[in-house]
Amino acid sequence: MSLSERVFCGELTPDDAGRRVLLAGWVDAFRDHGGLLFIHLRDRSGIIQVVFNPDVTPADVCRQAASLRAEYCIAVGGEVRQRLAGTENPNIGTGGIEVLVAELTVLSTADPLPFAISDKAMTAGAPSSGADSVAEDLRLQYRYLDLRRPAMRDNLVARHRIFQCVRQFLDSRGFVEVETPVLTASTPEGARDYLVPSRVHQQSFYALPQSPQLFKQLLMIGGMERYFQLARCFRDEDLRPNRQPEFTQLDIEASFIDEEFLYELVEELAVRMFAVGGITLSRPFPRMTWAEAMDTTGSDRPDLRFGLRFVDVTEVFSQTGYAIFRQILQRRGFIKGLNIKGQSERLSKNVLQNEYAREIAPSFGAKGMTWMRAEHGQLESNIVQFFSHGELEELRRRFDVADGDVLIMVADPSYATVTSALGQLRLHLANRLNLIPPGSFCPVWVTEFPLFEATEEGSVTSSHHPFTAPDRTDFDPRNIEELLTLRSRAYDLVMNGEELGGGSIRISDRELQRRVFAALGLGEEEVRERFGFFLRAFDFGAPPHGGLALGMDRTVSMILQTPSIREVIAFPKNRSAACPLTGAPSAVKREQLAELGLLNLGGHGVLPGTAEKENRIDRVSWVSRVGVAPEERAMMEEALMEAEELAALAAENAGEEEPAYGVAPVANRTRPGTEEKRSPLSEGGRLLKSAPAVKGGYFKVANILE
Ligand code: AMO
Repeated sequence: MSLSERVFCGELTPDDAGRRVLLAGWVDAFRDHGGLLFIHLRDRSGIIQVVFNPDVTPADVCRQAASLRAEYCIAVGGEVRQRLAGTENPNIGTGGIEVLVAELTVLSTADPLPFAISDKAMTAGAPSSGADSVAEDLRLQYRYLDLRRPAMRDNLVARHRIFQCVRQFLDSRGFVEVETPVLTASTPEGARDYLVPSRVHQQSFYALPQSPQLFKQLLMIGGMERYFQLARCFRDEDLRPNRQPEFTQLDIEASFIDEEFLYELVEELAVRMFAVGGITLSRPFPRMTWAEAMDTTGSDRPDLRFGLRFVDVTEVFSQTGYAIFRQILQRRGFIKGLNIKGQSERLSKNVLQNEYAREIAPSFGAKGMTWMRAEHGQLESNIVQFFSHGELEELRRRFDVADGDVLIMVADPSYATVTSALGQLRLHLANRLNLIPPGSFCPVWVTEFPLFEATEEGSVTSSHHPFTAPDRTDFDPRNIEELLTLRSRAYDLVMNGEELGGGSIRISDRELQRRVFAALGLGEEEVRERFGFFLRAFDFGAPPHGGLALGMDRTVSMILQTPSIREVIAFPKNRSAACPLTGAPSAVKREQLAELGLLNLGGHGVLPGTAEKENRIDRVSWVSRVGVAPEERAMMEEALMEAEELAALAAENAGEEEPAYGVAPVANRTRPGTEEKRSPLSEGGRLLKSAPAVKGGYFKVANILE
């Protein structure tokens, strides 16, 4: 039989009994019963047992079969037959049949494996092996072997199905798939760019896109009206379990639409995608403003699979005698809490005081945590005596307390500290007490984000990106206080506490866009330099438009309920953004650097990532990778001038004077005016703020400091 007649292992059924077939695949497992050899043959479709029986199989085939080992790639020809009663294997889909082999071809042999691939036991009831306990880096180094595991294969096939579903659905709604460039200019999404040096234009760099944001907006101005792309995006940012340096977005943009159009579209799409994984989502998805999400869950990606919503009790304590609360309220602080219903048996006084109040809450940034347990119609705690009857009654009312409930409260002068600490406690408690129903999926649209966030320097930065439309247009771009009250027409799709996607209605008015840039402190020249090409397009009749991007790795991972997004990516990077398979990123030859004009970058001050090349103090700081505090600049300036004068003097006299040689006795002397003083930047690692990279928890510094 020839390979063109090959059939798939997993597709054979008892109806095929008596049929002669040719199968090809890998030896998953084998069992030798004294001459009778059983093999699990695996291909992409599944596994089937093939049998070499010396009574029927030719002797030379049996001899050859004895040399087979795990993961040899083979083809076998033989007859399908029912298994004998009692020998069926429920572990595999084809467990009721087997193939009695007549022909065997070894297509290629395999070395001993770095880890086991087979996870299907050959007999009923036997334990299965499996690669679950294998170190992830080893799996990634031999990813091609890892991909042979049915679990990984299923993940990639399901990912493909979900992508197909997306394409079909968006096509049916009139969306056109368009590819945008990968070698491009920087897109502002808040992460660092991956840069690609140009050989032709020496000292110039392409940036890999953080998203196709600018291009999809240009497509709208180009009249495309409805666009989508399964786009690869690149972001050099700190890695987290649900982040990859290179990931895939479903990027969508449409013209002449509003938020409702996108909610309807994306909800219907999500329903279909989750249905591929057998999950039913009900529509419409609930909506929550950003303020409500923060107020009631302490997070802008609220996990709504369980209750534990915050209750604000600041007012309850407005006249309190409890000193800690009183001091916090005098500083115009906040008190919020949550009711853990019916859990007092699992949250003893000891756990609440010694674990939560002493250890866990402080680790989340709270300075303290107050707890109360409801027993015999009373609220009890170590500090309950400090509260008035009226306060306790009001707490019972606001938290809707019943016996067996546990209240926890966090008070702090800062709203952000209260919500962040209580939000983390909320998640911690839900996990510890198993309050999250397995298999539940709770989508929510989070809307009305702040348009801007305050920076440490007292200016503002975009919460989303600078092209997001504000909720009102009559703001003064110089009034920081006012800017911080603006809300955006942005929306995030959040599910089970994870941000799956986000987008916004864009600014399509050039004057408004100019004012947003002004608010961000970008001067006209900088705007022209960075976004001139983009803004110019708005001079030619830009339609109102908006869109969204869904993180496809996160979405597929959620649908398939995998522990990490790496399980749904064929060749992901590991936790330190490296690829154990290819060794990327790796050093390159000096010749390559020379060809790209990258050998002498330090000398030209154009190393990527530094904007601090104009001012010479900034430059020295950058070259030496040492931060210079403002009060140190004058001294540095003076020292540089002295050095320059000295160099000029030396240059003047060069050739005239004989160089002097001598050895001066070494003495430990401090130059006048430079008495030892600790730099204010030494706190919190800012002394090395100019170090461009962090590796393995360390700053990378220039050689001169190593
Ligand atoms: P945003 O930056 O919110 O929006 O990204 C959209 C979605 O992409 C996913 N995502 C990631 N997934 C894996 N690894 C990463 N490093 C990573 N970063 C982001 C998230 C996120 O919700 N241009 C805008 C969209 C728009 O406005 O239309 C954008 O990129 O799931």
